[in-house]
Amino acid sequence: MRTIIHAGAGTVAMILIAAFLTATAISELFLDDAAILSVKKAILTGLCLLIPFLAIAGGSGFSLARGRHSPSIEKKRRRMKIIAANGLLILLPLAILLYLRATSGRFDGLFYGMQMLEVLAGIFQLSLLVLNFRDGRRMTRGKRLAAAKTLNAI
Ligand code: HEM
Repeated sequence: MRTIIHAGAGTVAMILIAAFLTATAISELFLDDAAILSVKKAILTGLCLLIPFLAIAGGSGFSLARGRHSPSIEKKRRRMKIIAANGLLILLPLAILLYLRATSGRFDGLFYGMQMLEVLAGIFQLSLLVLNFRDGRRMTRGKRLAAAKTLNAI
């Protein structure tokens, strides 16, 4: 059950970040300032969902890994610390600053500079989550094969 909650929370976090990146790209490449502002507002609201899901994925991950040591687990621990720092120190402040700038209609060089940084930090965040997902699935492959064998034997 804990593994399902862990993997589920991680999956929701990945979907949210992919949605933020897609909405940002579409609004900034094809839509007007009003649409960009709506997306900035939606991302800020979405962060209120993303942060708890990341906390659940990380907290349950550290709990599942308690007392266990392997190269994959160490990598997942290290990545999770980077994910938390990137989220709280880079992505969250940028989302707030971009929203504030968009509300006052200042779509200037600084706005697009910060926007570029947010997109790069978002892609980096998504990549770390995907790597943790992949390693998690690899770690449980043995269990899944054993369960399938038992089912086949019945
Ligand atoms: C937020 C990023 C993370 C994502 C997206 C993620 C994703 C996953 C996934 C998909 C699984 C496989 C579940 C299954 O096959 O049923 C898994 C398993 C696992 N994850 Fe994570 N994980 C994350 C963070 C962490 C962290 C920080 C740790 C701590 C080191 C961790 C430790 C584990 C462990 C120990 C398992 C194996 C559980 C078992 O043997 O049943 N994960 N994870």
